[in-house]
Amino acid sequence: MPSSVAHQPVLQWYADHKRPLPWREPGVGGWAVLVSEVMLQQTPVARVLPAYYSFLQRWPTPAELASDTAGNAVRMWGRLGYPRRALRLHAAATVIEREHQGEVPTSYDELRRLPGVGDYTAAAVTAFAYRKRALVLDTNVRRVLVRWLGGSQFPPQHVTATERLLTETVLPTDGDVAATWSVALMEVGALLCTATRPTCVPCPVRDLCAWRAAGYPPHDGPPRRGQSYAGTDRQCRGRILALLRDSDDPVAASAVASVWDDAAQRQRALSSLLDDGLVVAHGETLALP
Ligand code: ADE
Repeated sequence: MPSSVAHQPVLQWYADHKRPLPWREPGVGGWAVLVSEVMLQQTPVARVLPAYYSFLQRWPTPAELASDTAGNAVRMWGRLGYPRRALRLHAAATVIEREHQGEVPTSYDELRRLPGVGDYTAAAVTAFAYRKRALVLDTNVRRVLVRWLGGSQFPPQHVTATERLLTETVLPTDGDVAATWSVALMEVGALLCTATRPTCVPCPVRDLCAWRAAGYPPHDGPPRRGQSYAGTDRQCRGRILALLRDSDDPVAASAVASVWDDAAQRQRALSSLLDDGLVVAHGETLALP
């Protein structure tokens, strides 16, 4: 197992090449890390940065978000996409305020019990805010590890037990070192070992990489999900939310027709927004919650 050999090169490469991102600053608290991780899960760093600053300026603690409306969280979410994340953060803040005296819990298990906090987010907060050992298996980390140790181009669609066991054996034992090593692998995945164009020459695990040694065999699993957006229900939902976000007052339900032509798709998107609680109907008008 090449793990113990590779900890140091990976850590050194990170020390030399990491991007200075605010949520990686020493001493950044649990709330800031939670907000950053929820934003970063489905949105690129460059788009997260301004939203992260505005969000924390407005709601520097969970208690402040909990005392505001969910609709304001959705409004602030702006164009980050996947706006259910704003509702989930608001719900988590409410529970943090009510059951944890306003402090983001420090254990994986308690974090995991917060509404909308899944395995990845709980592990990331445990590791990055509290410097405890946790398996931080995001897309980038999983891709780097499956190439390096498994010799495949891409990991399975969902995290497997085998992947967890393997990562457990290579993760440094010390919590603080494990946290830095995890973020370092994220950075290798973001800057070098990208999905479409790996840059191996500067890679700290180049000489140990099973995928490289095997001659870069192409992915042979099920087709990977595309990222298409134009014309999708997701785009239609985004248009409807933007209409409501940009208005201080409730909007007439009939105005939704002005943002999307296809009536059936419009109706489907609106129903799903109502089901998710992202939009509420008052008589013939619509508003954010
Ligand atoms: N640093 C810490 N967590 C991160 C993430 N999810 N994406 C990019 N950089 C990060």
